[in-house]
Amino acid sequence: MSERREPEMTVLLDPDWASGSLVDDVRRGLTRHPRTLPPRWLYDDHGSQLFDEITRLPEYYPFLAERSILEAHADEIVAASGATTLVELGSGTSEKTRLLLDAFTRAGQLTRFAPVDVSEGTLRAAADEIATAYPGLEVAAVVGDFTLHLAQLPQGGRRMVAFLGGTIGNLYLEERKAFLGALGDLLAPGDSVLLGTDLVKSADRLIAAYDDSQGVTEAFIRNSLTVVNRELGADFDQDAFSYIPFWDGHMERMDMRLRAEVPQRVSVPGADLVLDLAVGEELRVEISTKFRVSRIAAELEATGLAVARVWTDEPGDFALTLAVKP
Ligand code: SAH
Ligand code: TRP
Repeated sequence: MSERREPEMTVLLDPDWASGSLVDDVRRGLTRHPRTLPPRWLYDDHGSQLFDEITRLPEYYPFLAERSILEAHADEIVAASGATTLVELGSGTSEKTRLLLDAFTRAGQLTRFAPVDVSEGTLRAAADEIATAYPGLEVAAVVGDFTLHLAQLPQGGRRMVAFLGGTIGNLYLEERKAFLGALGDLLAPGDSVLLGTDLVKSADRLIAAYDDSQGVTEAFIRNSLTVVNRELGADFDQDAFSYIPFWDGHMERMDMRLRAEVPQRVSVPGADLVLDLAVGEELRVEISTKFRVSRIAAELEATGLAVARVWTDEPGDFALTLAVKP
């Protein structure tokens, strides 16, 4: 039996990253149209906990669909990757990732696991639990932003970079291009990417997944206002907004907004902003782009990666794509 190894934690976010970039994001987002609130701020401790609840909702099929693909194919994925280091971006609790870690363990292939997340509390707890569950594994956790810190991720070994949960769909097209370009550049020949993407499907099922009957998703989206109130001293009044999730069939993405139900003035002293919102004005909090298998392959190949395999679940709701740097 190997001994448990204490997880390492590297903090790449500087201490005032949170306050500094929140001010920039809020200023930029709230002064354009439609007004936006930046999504990475959804995942404070409370937000991360709400997200964890979302993954347990019967309507939230993406979690179950991705998990079923991993249950069926983790051994093949691990073999096809040939990896010795697993990097996971936006790792959260790394719950589904354990299916990969189990397969890596069966193959005797893995030496290091490097989960990366902006949410420090969630990451610490996950790194700790994984170090206990997989004795002998080197856990090198990184508190960092995958849009800023890709170049500083652990080097060496043959790496597979997993990006699960459909999180890539939460980036806007330009951000997604920049992200994939940076990822393609930083990988060494033989390294690979395992990308989880939610697929286009009927609007009814999509809306149900983002507008659950228990209101957990609504609470998650509304938490963005709570974060801005707390961090920047704003006076957003939750009761003055309603939650509006809709399917944008043209952009093929879910669009989650909060709509002002009364005309109102909101002050955001920490960002030196005063907003006058008209009735019906909307703040966009998050998008969740849905993909087609052909488009995922095209975008990965545009960054110089070669698609090795695509796995979907039985109903075709979700895809996992393995792409290798030649
Ligand atoms: N991979 C998990 C969690 C997905 S939720 C799953 O599939 O269930 C998205 C995760 O990405 C959250 O843990 C959030 O804190 C993290 N995240 C969001 N934006 C990020 C960013 N810019 N950099 C790093 N992590 C980010
Ligand atoms: N990556 C997840 C998704 O797009 C994040 C998420 C889950 C989410 N539920 C949400 C984002 C609700 C906004 C609102 O599905």
